[in-house]
Amino acid sequence: MKLFISKDIPLPAIDLLTESGFDISINESGSRLSPQQLIMACKHADYLLNVGQGQLDADFFEACAHLKGIALTSVGYDHVDLNAATAASIPISNTPDVLSDATADIAFLLMLAVSRKAFFRAMQVRDGAWTDFEFTKHLGVELQGKTLGIFGLGRIGLSLARKAKAAYGMKIIYHNRHRNPQAEEAVEATYVNFDDLLRHSDVLSVHTNLTAETAHRFNKDSFRRMKNSAIFINTARGRIHHEPDLIEALQKKEIWGAGLDVTDPEPMLPDNPLLNMANACIFPHIGSATLETRTKMALLAAKNLIAVKNGQKMPQVINE
Ligand code: DGY
Repeated sequence: MKLFISKDIPLPAIDLLTESGFDISINESGSRLSPQQLIMACKHADYLLNVGQGQLDADFFEACAHLKGIALTSVGYDHVDLNAATAASIPISNTPDVLSDATADIAFLLMLAVSRKAFFRAMQVRDGAWTDFEFTKHLGVELQGKTLGIFGLGRIGLSLARKAKAAYGMKIIYHNRHRNPQAEEAVEATYVNFDDLLRHSDVLSVHTNLTAETAHRFNKDSFRRMKNSAIFINTARGRIHHEPDLIEALQKKEIWGAGLDVTDPEPMLPDNPLLNMANACIFPHIGSATLETRTKMALLAAKNLIAVKNGQKMPQVINE
């Protein structure tokens, strides 16, 4: 049973797959394969462990319809044409739950970094621009008792809400397609409509999937309806906000700051104005990037492949 792994993964997952009888080949180049290279690499494989955000589109599924199962190493699957996968009868799995706390930590870190201008101030130190103890310049704002608005209160949003409530007594409001009574009870979250989420959030954090409905949901019009003192955080997908509109909103001081772990495109281009703004902090999509979480993600992907190899349903299948 031949398995192709599109980028290196932690050793415990390789060991588990080897013990389970897979004949493994790995892309050890350290770089993402082009769509054509991925198709070529899968030509003689039975299974694929697709690491990261490499696109699996209709052309891929047409060329690789022989695959018996694909495990992703992400909770998001906007990079996969699920209809084409289902048409080719290829089950696909993702990695929910195991990355929720690590991703919420990055949202929390961005909230703090932006509210205290910490990233910008650290860059000043690095660039030799720390000249004096400033008393009234570059002041941040505090999170204590403020309102955290969550767009998409699922597993990651709930983890962030718990941290924000415990650390700073933040009041939680949220907007979802469907209400989440369990989360409402767990963190005393209040469900609001989208307009109220925009108007009342001191910090607004995005934790939803990228879909046709959520693409560019945060745009010129939404930023205008937010408080001038608001901080916008996105650790979900870069295309959920409209980047030029966000830049304009920050430049015109329609909102106070922004912290992004996701951009559009990724990697962000080095001449992006956000990189030089005092009120923006950009991370390179590191939500799940801890040794513990990446190991759990790789093991979960491995277990899904083992299940399908043994003729069982993948536990985390996303296209039934
Ligand atoms: C996810 O799991 O979707 C993260 O964004 C990493 O890709």
